[in-house]
Amino acid sequence: MRVQIAAANWKMNLTVREAEKLLEVLLGESYELTENQKVVFAVPAPYLTIAEEKIAKHSQMFIAAQNVYSKKSGAYTGEVSVTMLQSIGVDHVIIGHSERREYFGETDELIAGKVNICLETNITSIFCCGEALPVREVNQQNSYVSHQLEESLFYLPAEQIVKVVIAYEPIWAIGTGKTASSEQVQEMHAFIRSQIEKRYGIEEAQSISILYGGSVKAANAKEIFSQPDVDGGLVGGASLIAEEFIAIIKALKV
Ligand code: 13P
Repeated sequence: MRVQIAAANWKMNLTVREAEKLLEVLLGESYELTENQKVVFAVPAPYLTIAEEKIAKHSQMFIAAQNVYSKKSGAYTGEVSVTMLQSIGVDHVIIGHSERREYFGETDELIAGKVNICLETNITSIFCCGEALPVREVNQQNSYVSHQLEESLFYLPAEQIVKVVIAYEPIWAIGTGKTASSEQVQEMHAFIRSQIEKRYGIEEAQSISILYGGSVKAANAKEIFSQPDVDGGLVGGASLIAEEFIAIIKALKV
């Protein structure tokens, strides 16, 4: 059974006090998570340690960084390394988010380097892929996403690719309130899984969690998550509102 994941991506939001308050409210709720479900909070880098401490007693909750560099240490001013994340107990990281690709010029090659270094240090990558609107408008989304997977993931051996979580985030649905329809989501998730199967085999394809991201909220989470190839969500805006994210966690498949 694939792990079902509700992942919050807070992006560059909240002060430390607001972040603490939000976590307190979220952790104060009772979820009855099954062994197959997990919750991940991708918090801004300055709050990683505080967030780690807060979730320490929650066995199915994890803290993620929103980015990491592809080198372990050295003269890379402003960057954060996997070694640093590991030293504070952070075991997940979002890699290749479309905002990093677009605003910070991250290439498929750099992203592949980040996936590699995470695998070396046993940090779980949440690898993001997804097309922009002009690509969808000409119905090229499958080949676009397939290319992203080829360039940054599909060189991995089978025993490594199964450690990666994939997040399909169509750029036109991020922060726009325009969610992809559950049919569009299922279609792409099934396509991604079929590509993994073609490359690696059915066992690998069936063991990788594929999350959907793009305007997920309490009102649509249940329907999206109930699609057969959707294993939860990577949530931006709605993860900053406690009652929204609580409902999203509760909408996970068991
Ligand atoms: P929104 O949920 O705000 O659309 O953001 C999605 C996202 O980019 C999560 O990584």
